[in-house]
Amino acid sequence: MATYSAPGKVFLFGEHAVVYGKPGIAMAIKPRVHVTVRKGRYPPSLKSPYLESCFHEFGVTGSLYINSQLPSSSGLGSSAAVTVATLSAINDEYGFEQTRDEIAQIAYGIEKRVQLGRASPTDTQVATYGGIVMMKNGVRRTLPPQDFQLVIGNTQISHSTAQLVEDVADFRRNHPAVAGSLIDSIETVTRQALFHLQDQECLGRYMDINHALLDALGVGHPMLTTLVTAARDAGAYGAKMTGAGGGGSMIALCPKREKKQVARAIDAAGGRSIVTSLDTEGVRKEQ
Ligand code: PMV
Repeated sequence: MATYSAPGKVFLFGEHAVVYGKPGIAMAIKPRVHVTVRKGRYPPSLKSPYLESCFHEFGVTGSLYINSQLPSSSGLGSSAAVTVATLSAINDEYGFEQTRDEIAQIAYGIEKRVQLGRASPTDTQVATYGGIVMMKNGVRRTLPPQDFQLVIGNTQISHSTAQLVEDVADFRRNHPAVAGSLIDSIETVTRQALFHLQDQECLGRYMDINHALLDALGVGHPMLTTLVTAARDAGAYGAKMTGAGGGGSMIALCPKREKKQVARAIDAAGGRSIVTSLDTEGVRKEQ
């Protein structure tokens, strides 16, 4: 029997633009997914295409148990965390000796296939390695850890990442100049954020701008803006949607002492808050 856990993730900056070769900054967060795999003669009965692919990839059978503190389909990288933890558990249980890099690669292949070719490797890289990372053209750069205190607000409105990525592609096809300049502006904000990682007030302002740019790109949702506004009013440095948008989740960067207040404001505005911070560890073996 092998149990592995992997962290969830949030995009701090640059989602959607990252699909077009621009940099994106993402961070591993504390709620983790735990997966236990046990050797067995029978194929597991699985309802998720991600999990089916994990067993298929290694050509093995067995049983699987998942314990997730991460809500699914909420833009918090739960599918990547489950995939990476499951592959790692199978790898260990059956003694396949794949490296972390190989696990990350296989996980990305699965995500891409299930999401019809429309996934960047951000989620699978963060689930595998943890920490704060900058992704550009599929290449990961690890950034120095920061004491970012975040409150997540889950709208509980499910979204399809593949559909939202397709919507942006359509907008870009039909209005290349406008979409191009919005994507370029997201790139500018992301690059500038890299120079201000230790100035949280400035980062908060940049998050506000990134949110507005994503809204302009057409991936907003009234509930996301309601939660973002509530968080700002309650004392956050700044707030934005995170991930694909159109529902899913938002994040607020907060002074430590304001976290509870921001969480209460998000709940009062109709969201479901999760108070969190950086998880520096990626996928790991559990006892
Ligand atoms: O919804 P999420 O958390 O998987 O984020 C999607 C982020 C996009 O940039 C829109 C797509 C991607 O694969 O990077």
